[in-house]
Amino acid sequence: MKFTLKLLAASALLSLGFTAHAAPIVIKYSHVVADVTPKGKAALKFKELAEKALPGKVEVQVFPNSQLFGDGKEMEALLLGDVQVIAPSLAKFGKYTPKLQIFDLPFLFDDLQAVDRFQASPEGQALLSSMTKKGITGLGYMHNGMKQLSANTKLSMPADAKGLKFRIQASDVLEAQFKAVGGNPQKISFSEVYQALQTGVVDGTENPWSNIYSKKFHEVQKYIMESDHGALDYMVITNTKWWDGLPADIRKTLKSAMDESIAYGNKVAFQEGLEFKDKIIADKKAEVVPMTKEQKTAWRTAMKPVWKQFEGEIGKDLISAAERANK
Ligand code: LMR
Repeated sequence: MKFTLKLLAASALLSLGFTAHAAPIVIKYSHVVADVTPKGKAALKFKELAEKALPGKVEVQVFPNSQLFGDGKEMEALLLGDVQVIAPSLAKFGKYTPKLQIFDLPFLFDDLQAVDRFQASPEGQALLSSMTKKGITGLGYMHNGMKQLSANTKLSMPADAKGLKFRIQASDVLEAQFKAVGGNPQKISFSEVYQALQTGVVDGTENPWSNIYSKKFHEVQKYIMESDHGALDYMVITNTKWWDGLPADIRKTLKSAMDESIAYGNKVAFQEGLEFKDKIIADKKAEVVPMTKEQKTAWRTAMKPVWKQFEGEIGKDLISAAERANK
């Protein structure tokens, strides 16, 4: 009897034009940087495109600046399904695959265009699906920029780094990179970098212009060396089970929205990367110091042994493929 009444009520509502709308799929997109950075803008672009293409079917919630999950937590949260999309730096995948450490090898890539070519190569593309057994699906690579060394003393030659404490991302390659010049590397979460520099917990660090400016590191560092000694890029990832469990049409539309938002983020990285440097110079708080060719060669020579150190984990072929991308 009760069931019949419910059926009657439902069909009455239907005839009056009421339709039961399924709740939208909520997609939480969490990251640790500011909205003005390439990654910040790309995340907001994804929200715009996905919601426009799937009105009422998806709702994208973007959480920048470690608001929802910081460095150490975001990967775990993705695997637990507490967040659906994150875009960690390629330096933060050491626990899931040793191969992505290739992006941390100092002076491996001449510039961001070379990084871009390697990422587009068959070897680079294969890395996107190298963690599905661990429950992680790569949706694409995203640029931030080339890293610059900074400290409160000028770092013109490798010997200038001796005994200094440097904040690094959670990467064994970056640890080895600073040890190779006598530095003392400290793995610290991104959200704690400003305070660590301000209080002297560390003397220096490395980051691209957009992160230095948007997080005001230039206010607590006297010198920023134009070292371009490595790339800081990202892999946009999702939870494999969640992604594969989406209705095929929704997944297809989300993937094209993601591709478009990543392309937009990369355009921002190429076009606006150096504008952040100009803003830092205009602020006159830190001195931006160009490096001569000889100085860069000295740093490259001092840090290059790190390639050999990680060759076994990363793979000789992969390193050669990356070097080819410089041509
Ligand atoms: C860092 O920890 O320095 C960066 O990976 C932060 C980011 O996501 O750009």
